[in-house]
Amino acid sequence: MKALVVYDSFFGNTKQVALAIRDGLTSEESCETLHVSDATPKHLKGLDILIVGSPTRAFRPTKPITDFLNSIPRDGLKGIKVAAFDTRMSTADVRPRFLSTMVGLFGYAAKPIADRLAKKGGTLIAQPEGFFVKGSEGPLKDNELERASAWVKSAMKA
Ligand SMILES: Cc1cc2nc3c(=O)[nH]c(=O)nc-3n(C[C@H](O)[C@H](O)[C@H](O)COP(=O)(O)O)c2cc1C
Repeated sequence: MKALVVYDSFFGNTKQVALAIRDGLTSEESCETLHVSDATPKHLKGLDILIVGSPTRAFRPTKPITDFLNSIPRDGLKGIKVAAFDTRMSTADVRPRFLSTMVGLFGYAAKPIADRLAKKGGTLIAQPEGFFVKGSEGPLKDNELERASAWVKSAMKA
């Protein structure tokens, strides 16, 4: 099985999650991680699994992640298992209060990524998942790397 994790990251937290996901895949899967700036639709050739992750910025994935998803041709993910994750702030850490309500209302990056992956023909193998950073720039909260590894392992069993 050939797997690819494409990620974007400003402060390194999403990159760490991407690497934990790569390491969580069993040795039967050969898995590469690619920063989104290096990822092109040609990397999808011969792929069995594509996992895409982004920091949540203004309730959405980053522009490079959105551009990458848009660059995938229609049905370009047919026959490929897909999953999406993001990193995000905990609403408890968001000040002021109205912003915390907006974060709750407008959501996070993982779901729109998952929707786009499915729209391009991919087969979703996991619910979109978010991993929490401390404050607005991290580091990651305790045990999030372990949770990322468990998330991909359980996706692979499904
Ligand atoms: C300009 C900016 C906007 C952000 N917007 C959100 C947001 O809408 N929702 C959220 O949960 N976190 C938000 N965050 C926190 C980021 O999700 C956090 O910086 C990110 O998870 C860190 O990942 P990275 O180190 O890979 O960049 C924002 C952070 C910045 C700096």
